[in-house]
Amino acid sequence: MSTIHSFSSLILLLSFSLSTSAAVVDRRDPVPAGYVAPPYYPSPHGGWTVDWSESYRKASLLVSNMTLAEKTNITSGSGIFMGRCVGNTGSALRVGIPQLCLQDGPLGIRNTDHNTAFPPGITVGATFDKSLMLARGVALGEEFRGKGINVHLGPSVGPLGRRARAGRNWEGFGADPVLQAFGGALTIEGVQSQGVIATIKHLVANEQEQYRMTNLFQPEISSNLDDRTMHELYLWPFAEGVRSGVGSVMIAYNAVNGSACSQNSYLMNNLLKDELGFQGFVMSDWLAQITGVPSALAGLDMSMPGDINQVPLFGNSYWMYELSRSVLNGSVPVDRLNDMATRILAAWFQLGQDQNYPAPNFDTNTQDANGPLYPGALFSPSGVVNEFVDVQGNHAEVARAVARDGITLLKNTNATLPLSKNATLKVFGTDAEKNPDGINACADQGCNKGTLGMGWGSGSARYPYLDSPIDGLKARGANYKFFNTDSFPSNSNPAPGDVALIFINADSGENYITVDGNPGDRTNAGLNAWHSGDKLVQNVAAKYSNVIVIIHTVGPILMESWIDLPSVKAVLNAHLPGQEAGETLMQVLFGDVSPSGHLPYTIPVSEDQYPGSFDLIGFKLGQPQDTFTEGLYIDYRHFNKQNIKPRFAFGHGLSYTTFSFSNASISSVTPLTSLPPARAAKGPTPQYNTTIPPASEAYWPANFNRIWRYLYSWLDKNDADNAAKAANSSTKYPYPAGYSTEQKPGPAAGGAQGGNPALFDVAYNIAVTVTNTGNMSGKAVAQLYVQFPTGITYDTPIVQLRDFEKTDTLAPGAAQTLNLRVTRKDLSVWDVVQQNWVIPAVNGDYGIWIGEASDSFSLRCGTSTKSCVVG
Ligand code: NOJ
Repeated sequence: MSTIHSFSSLILLLSFSLSTSAAVVDRRDPVPAGYVAPPYYPSPHGGWTVDWSESYRKASLLVSNMTLAEKTNITSGSGIFMGRCVGNTGSALRVGIPQLCLQDGPLGIRNTDHNTAFPPGITVGATFDKSLMLARGVALGEEFRGKGINVHLGPSVGPLGRRARAGRNWEGFGADPVLQAFGGALTIEGVQSQGVIATIKHLVANEQEQYRMTNLFQPEISSNLDDRTMHELYLWPFAEGVRSGVGSVMIAYNAVNGSACSQNSYLMNNLLKDELGFQGFVMSDWLAQITGVPSALAGLDMSMPGDINQVPLFGNSYWMYELSRSVLNGSVPVDRLNDMATRILAAWFQLGQDQNYPAPNFDTNTQDANGPLYPGALFSPSGVVNEFVDVQGNHAEVARAVARDGITLLKNTNATLPLSKNATLKVFGTDAEKNPDGINACADQGCNKGTLGMGWGSGSARYPYLDSPIDGLKARGANYKFFNTDSFPSNSNPAPGDVALIFINADSGENYITVDGNPGDRTNAGLNAWHSGDKLVQNVAAKYSNVIVIIHTVGPILMESWIDLPSVKAVLNAHLPGQEAGETLMQVLFGDVSPSGHLPYTIPVSEDQYPGSFDLIGFKLGQPQDTFTEGLYIDYRHFNKQNIKPRFAFGHGLSYTTFSFSNASISSVTPLTSLPPARAAKGPTPQYNTTIPPASEAYWPANFNRIWRYLYSWLDKNDADNAAKAANSSTKYPYPAGYSTEQKPGPAAGGAQGGNPALFDVAYNIAVTVTNTGNMSGKAVAQLYVQFPTGITYDTPIVQLRDFEKTDTLAPGAAQTLNLRVTRKDLSVWDVVQQNWVIPAVNGDYGIWIGEASDSFSLRCGTSTKSCVVG
C-alpha cells in the first residue's frame, strides 16, 4: 500500500491552515550551543576562475543587455507543473535564451519512455569501478540530451548515508565521502561531456526524509554539525563535484545549524561560492525556498519550481515579479541579480548549450502524446507533448556492467557458488519476478511489489523493461521451479540435491510517498527484510540444505536471524540493479564472471551497534534538531573507533577466486608543508552598471495573454512605479547581521574550483601488483585507507578510504599493477581555528593501508620509511 500526498489535498489543507495558524511557522528553536551558521555576505561574484572566463565573458555580454524582467525571468521556474519538465525556467527570447528544462533524476530520466533505468548510485558505488562510474555518466548525459533536457538533477551525494534507515541513501554512492566523491565527480564528468548541465545535490546534510520541509506548523529539520565534520565528511563530495566543473548545485530542504539551506549564507556564500570556488548556479530544492530577499542575499541563484513554499500552484512566487519588485525598491542589489543571471547563463555557455541544443521532446506529466502544455494552469492550451524519442542507444550494456559488477558476494561456504549449469533450483520470494500489476504500476515506483530495481521517489525512472531473475533463469534454460510467494509453500517437495534460491528485499524512498508505513525512511520496516523475508529464509533453510539468499536492497539489512544457519551457504547482495536484474545475476550465479562488488556501507549485527545519534528524529513541536554528535564517526569510522565487529564491514566483498597484493611501492611526489601554499588572488569578474533600472523594465508588455497561475516576472505599472519610489524613501530593508556589499578576497582554503588547488597535489603515488591466485577469472579492488601518524593532536578516525582501483578481469595466475595516489587533502585535517587544511605531522609516518575491505588489509606503506610491508 502506498500513499501519495496529492497536491490538491495538500493545498486545501494548507490554505485552510493559513488563515487559522499562520503565526506558528516562525517558531524556531535555538540549535544546541556550538553549532553555528555565521553570516557571510555579500554573495561572491562568479567568473573569477580561468576555466570559466570565456563563458562569463559571453554571459556578461548578454546580461548587460537584458532588462530587469528578463533577468528575473531566468532566475526562477515558471511554476510547478507549468511545462514539460519537472522544472522550467522563464526565458529571455529577445536575447536568445530559451526556457531551460530541468529534469530528474540521478539514475535516469524520470517519468518518460524509451529511456534506460540504470542501476542507482548505491550499486554504482558497490562496483568500486571508476571507469563504470564515468561510462554510466556519459550514457546518462546522452539520454538527457536526447530528450532535450538542459539540466540533469543529479548526481546525489547527500544524504551521505550516515543513518542506515534514511530514505534516499540509495540515490548516492555509499556511506563514505571519498566513495561518494568519486561517484559524484565521475558522473558529473560523464554527464557534462554531453553538454548537459549536471546538478550535484542536496547541499547539505539531509540525512533523513521525515520533517525535511518547512510547513505551516514546523520549520524544516535542522542538521547541526561542526565545521570539521562539515569539511571532512559532508562537504567533501561536493568539493570534488565543484572541482569537476559541475554547472549547478541543489540546496537541501533541511536547515544546517538552524539556518534553512536555501537562505544559509554560511553554506552558499561562504562554503560553496567562496571556499569551493563554485562558478555555476545554486537552485533551491522544490519548494524549499521560504523567503525572497534573504535567499537572494544568501546566495540562491534559481528558485525551483518558482512557487512559494506553503501554497504552490496559485501563481505566487518569492521571486519572479517579487524579485523585480525587490530590485526596483532597492532591497536586492542590482549587483546580486546580475550575478545570478550571469551564473545561470555562464553555465549554459560553459556546456555549449548555445550551439544546437535540442528542445524538450517529452513530458514528465503524462505518458500521452497530446496533453496540456501547462498542466498546472486552470485553462491550458494543448498540443503534442510526448514525441517518444528513443534515447537508449546501447546503454543497456553499461547498465548491465554496473548491475553485474556491483553484485557483492557476502558469504560462500564450501564454494557453493557458482552453481553448476544443471543444478536443480527451487526459487522462492516475490522479489524474483516482476510486479504482476506491471513494472511501472506505481507512480514514481512508490510500492514494493516484485523485483526491486530501485527505491521510490523523484530519484526513480520508469522501466523500459525489467529483466527479472526469473527471466534470467528462463533465458538460460535453467532447471528451476518458482514459488511466487513470500510464505514458505507446503508443496515445494525438497529433495537432497536441490539448491534453494531465496529472493528478499528492502526498500525506501522519498518522503512524499509512504509505502507500507514507511514515509521514505525505513521507520516501520527498520533494517529488516520486507515481506517477512527473514522468516522465509528461516523456513526454507529448515527444509533445504543448500540455500542461497539473494538480496535487493537500498542499504544495510539485518541478517542475524539466518546468516549463520548451516544450510545458508551463500549470500549475494545484488543492491538495486535497475532494469538489469536478470541476466547480470545469472552471470554471477553460474560463474560466467566472479562477483567483484564490495559493500558501500557496513552491515551491522544489530541497530544497537550504531550510535544513538543515528536514530531517526521523531516528531516534536517546533524545529526538529538533528545533532551530529558522532562527528566524524559514521559507518566504519564508528565501528573501528568503538572496536565493534559488524556482520560485514564497509568494503567487504568476496570472489570465486583469490587475489594477492604484493610488490607495493610508495614514492613521494609533492613535498608536504604544514599548510598549503597561498592561493592565487581571484581573477576579474564581470563589471556591470549597478544603478537600479527604470521601473518600465518590469511593466507587463502590452496585450499580453496571461495564463492564470503561471509565474511571470512583470509587475503592474503602479506596483513597479511604487517600488521604484520606495527605493528613494528613507525606509531601508532590514538586512541581516553581518550584511555587507563589499566583495571579499576569498578564504585561504579557496582559490579554484574545489578549493585551494594545492590541496589536490599528489603527495604520494602507490603502486601495487594484484595477482589472481585462485583458479577462476575475476576482478579485484584495491582499497586504499589512510591512517594518520600517532601522537597528533587531532582526534582522527583510525583509517579512512582515500582511493581505490579495480583490476581488469584477471585470468588465474595473471597479474596487474594498480596505481593509486594520496593527495595533500587526503593527509590533512580541517583546522577550525586556522580555517584551513593542515597536515598535522609533516614528517610523521602516515600508514597507507591497502586491502580488499576496511577490515582486511594486505599491506602497509609508510610515508616516512617510504617502504611497504606485507601483512
Ligand atoms: C525534490 C527532491 O528532493 C529533488 O531531489 C528533486 O530533484 C526535486 N524534488 C524535483 O523533483
